[in-house]
Amino acid sequence: MKFFIDTANLAQIKEAQDLGVLDGVTTNPSLMAKEGIKGQDNILKHYVDICKIVDGDVSAEVISTDFEGMVREGEALAELHPQIVVKIPMIKDGIKAIKYFSEKGIRTNCTLIFSAGQALLAAKAGATYVSPFIGRLDDVSTDGMILIEDIRIIFDNYGYETQILAASVRHPIHIIQCAKLGADVATCPLSAILALLNHPLTDKGLAQFLADAKK
Ligand code: G3P
Repeated sequence: MKFFIDTANLAQIKEAQDLGVLDGVTTNPSLMAKEGIKGQDNILKHYVDICKIVDGDVSAEVISTDFEGMVREGEALAELHPQIVVKIPMIKDGIKAIKYFSEKGIRTNCTLIFSAGQALLAAKAGATYVSPFIGRLDDVSTDGMILIEDIRIIFDNYGYETQILAASVRHPIHIIQCAKLGADVATCPLSAILALLNHPLTDKGLAQFLADAKK
């Protein structure tokens, strides 16, 4: 399973990259705002800065909601850097834009996926990735993992190459469940990735080994 980091924070991206397990980055307008990145020029420069840190796909989201606007924005984003994947919302014009980009060889990530039907439609349109938001489903008392499982079955039934990019991952158990169900990618906060390192028996065992090594 590929690990992406879900942030626009350059220090966190670098920390994950330095760990040696990072396969890509996802961003969205909320994550860019959280880092205080404002103005078109600064936003575009920030995407390029991210691409320089990570060896892998970097999702950059359009903010237009009409077909022409998404095409205009997406083409400009795709021209920024070969690692850029254009992130498109799951709306009617978004599906048209994904189809347009897929015919032009521009890679896309269809975001805000909350149902298997939405994922199927995005795959049919040729999306490179679909992003089911599992944490936000959990927030409304719906098991986000059932969505991952359903999409995996559907994509495998028909051989869709669209990758399942589990998003809105909140904690390490989400990552483990995604891996068990065959999600292609989990995009996670740095804290969830680092939490995979921890086990009290590892700490206890290491302390014992180091103590015994002194004997
Ligand atoms: O990848 C989508 C993600 O940024 C949303 O996460 O925690 O705001 O639901 P969250």
